[in-house]
Amino acid sequence: MTESSLVDKMVRTADQAMRSVCGAPHTTGRISPSADVEETELSDYERDEAGRLMRVNHVGEICAQALYQGQALTARDKKVQESLDQSAAEENDHLAWCEQRLEELGTRKSLLNPFWYAGSFTLGSIAGLAGDKWNLGFLAETEHQVADHLQGHLNRLPERDTKSRAIVEQMKIDESKHATIAAKAGGAELPTSIKSLMRFGSKVMTRTAHWI
Ligand SMILES: [Fe+2]
Ligand SMILES: [Fe+2]
Repeated sequence: MTESSLVDKMVRTADQAMRSVCGAPHTTGRISPSADVEETELSDYERDEAGRLMRVNHVGEICAQALYQGQALTARDKKVQESLDQSAAEENDHLAWCEQRLEELGTRKSLLNPFWYAGSFTLGSIAGLAGDKWNLGFLAETEHQVADHLQGHLNRLPERDTKSRAIVEQMKIDESKHATIAAKAGGAELPTSIKSLMRFGSKVMTRTAHWI
């Protein structure tokens, strides 16, 4: 890589980071799955709980964006990278949809978003440095775990909050597709111990973001 292309890449990466954390992501232009769903009346408890769950999901999308950006900075094979670009762009759709829903629910974003972004970016960069098969394996496993997590949220979101549910349903479909893309591009199966560590890390994140 030439010095100027490295600088270009770093400037693009910094721009993406600012856009993700400050709320101006480059989306694919898909409209939110909740756009055509009518807003229903929620009790204070339901609104509060939906807001907390959607804040957790918003943090998840901040992390996903950082993970894709981190691995893009250090991944080796250009073809592999191109196959992940669409997934990364769709994570920005998710980010925008969650952010819009948070505003509608009158809930704030996590105060720790810059911290979540930095941590996930570091993890993504390390995965990229480990080589493409591990990088892709890490992404595939992350996407699997996120899809499972979203199913858990569908079980917990108030039945009447059909707008949030529409967003989470579509995100779950997209995350499963992203997992398949990463696995098909050559992702290796990760050792069970790493998978457990990843589950533990995401549990810390989701429990914290529920409140902060
Ligand atoms: Fe996502
Ligand atoms: Fe994804």
